[in-house]
Amino acid sequence: MRFRGLRSRGAPLLLALTLLVPVAPAQPAAAQDRTLTVAVDGSDSAPGTVAAPLRTIQRAVDLAAPGTVIQIRGGTYEPSVNIRIQKSGTPSQPITMRAYDGEHVVIDGENMPNTPAPFGEPYPRIERGAIHVSGDWWRFEGLEIINGPYGIFAIESSNNVYRDLVTRDNYETGLHLVLDSSDNRVVNLDSYGNRDPRKNGESADGLAIKQGTGSGNAVIGARLWNNADDGFDSWDFLSPIRIEDSVAWGNGVDRWGFPGWEGDGNGFKLGRGAANHVVRNSIAFDNAVGGFIDNGNPGSLRLENNTAWANGGSGFVFNRSASTLNRNLSVADGAGVNLGSSGGDGNSWDLKDDWSDADLVSTSAAVIKGPRAADGSIPATEFVRPRDHANLGADFSDDNGVGEPAPRRHEAEHAPAACDGTVDADHPGYSGGGFCNTDNVTGAAARFTVRADTPATVTLVVGYANGGPSGRPAEVVVNGSTAASAPFAATGAWSSWARATITVRLDSGDNTVRLVATGSDGLPNIDYLELPPGGA
Ligand code: GCU
Ligand code: CA
Repeated sequence: MRFRGLRSRGAPLLLALTLLVPVAPAQPAAAQDRTLTVAVDGSDSAPGTVAAPLRTIQRAVDLAAPGTVIQIRGGTYEPSVNIRIQKSGTPSQPITMRAYDGEHVVIDGENMPNTPAPFGEPYPRIERGAIHVSGDWWRFEGLEIINGPYGIFAIESSNNVYRDLVTRDNYETGLHLVLDSSDNRVVNLDSYGNRDPRKNGESADGLAIKQGTGSGNAVIGARLWNNADDGFDSWDFLSPIRIEDSVAWGNGVDRWGFPGWEGDGNGFKLGRGAANHVVRNSIAFDNAVGGFIDNGNPGSLRLENNTAWANGGSGFVFNRSASTLNRNLSVADGAGVNLGSSGGDGNSWDLKDDWSDADLVSTSAAVIKGPRAADGSIPATEFVRPRDHANLGADFSDDNGVGEPAPRRHEAEHAPAACDGTVDADHPGYSGGGFCNTDNVTGAAARFTVRADTPATVTLVVGYANGGPSGRPAEVVVNGSTAASAPFAATGAWSSWARATITVRLDSGDNTVRLVATGSDGLPNIDYLELPPGGA
């Protein structure tokens, strides 16, 4: 087997729907993994095979059970009511909805109610979203959702993966997560042109995670542009969100001629409730107002290696939080940074006063706005890289695209990993930008996501240091089930790093590997999780 960064295209699995679809010919009823195919020329009384596909996505959702893969053939689907997802997969058997074999699937909400909703009028939550999600353990991959009453509206839903999606030109936010929501991952989202005539631009963002709580939500590789309100908004979401490798531009400009413009125009708007959001390696440019702003969030946010360029207002506004900003870059923004009592070091404003475009390698946004790399990542570019100071600002210049092997080493300190504790960097010898220092309690965990092409038994390596007097045992939980244990013996010092091996079984696709402390000291400091060389 091998591991890769490309989205997996597992071979379609054999279909057995005898119990669910009476018209199907007799087939073995035992198979638990089901594939349901939907096509624009299908029929909802068909069995849902590739040869005889279903017609509507809703019919496939209604037939789905944990483990089902709904694969949608290319074409435009224009349902007259929104698609409602109110059932859940399970940790070991998520339900997948994806484009069939890379075909181009468009879900067009224009025929749905509330496109747009009448000016100033409320409308029922259940009608929100061309895709309305209240289930857990779903994966949405490779779909384009347009003209909906919101693109995707996910409410009280957790452990969902939104990967390689486009949400554009919806009549509210493109992708919207609200209320209790945890452990959702948004990977490689393109969300643009979303606007809300109902509110004159006041609330249509590219991506919003709002008005709720829940740990473990992460945004990686998003591009959010030309939305009415903001690129990203975490308004009153009260738990930390991690944002990485993302770009927001051109938000907050009235591109529709609304009668009384209300759009805000920030790249990454990180208020208002107290939540220690973390934003790394991201760029905000050409937004009408701010680049990155705390928006009244009184928490301790961390902003690392981000770049704000040519925003109408200030690049970094963290005057109402007690945030830490390290190695961020602000050039050619309409106003200087506004930090109040927030601190940090190594930022452009700590280095010198007079930054200008002459300090940058490139101010051409053509590549970063262009087609994504083959693996879905943002294309490599020197855009807004500083000529000097290699560790300053966001860096998209590494080629993460075609031909690049998937990373073997998954650092513990950034998404998709998550840490029940703090990310520290006070003991030298770690790799990457730091390590996970869990709380010293039973059950404290470090979580990783690793991808496999095929199910396989593999030996993983954990980089760790245990400067305590005794072992710090952990159980290894893979996709929700305890799979192994690790003693994590004392290493003598917190700066003495060691490698522990654990052998586990992985499923194809993304796997969640959690190290969970079984003793009250918590885990040792965890540096990384490594896959076998070349994938085995
Ligand atoms: C020390 C050390 C931390 C470590 C902690 C612990 O505080 O500096 O890095 O995590 O001990 O005992 O867990
Ligand atoms: Ca600790």
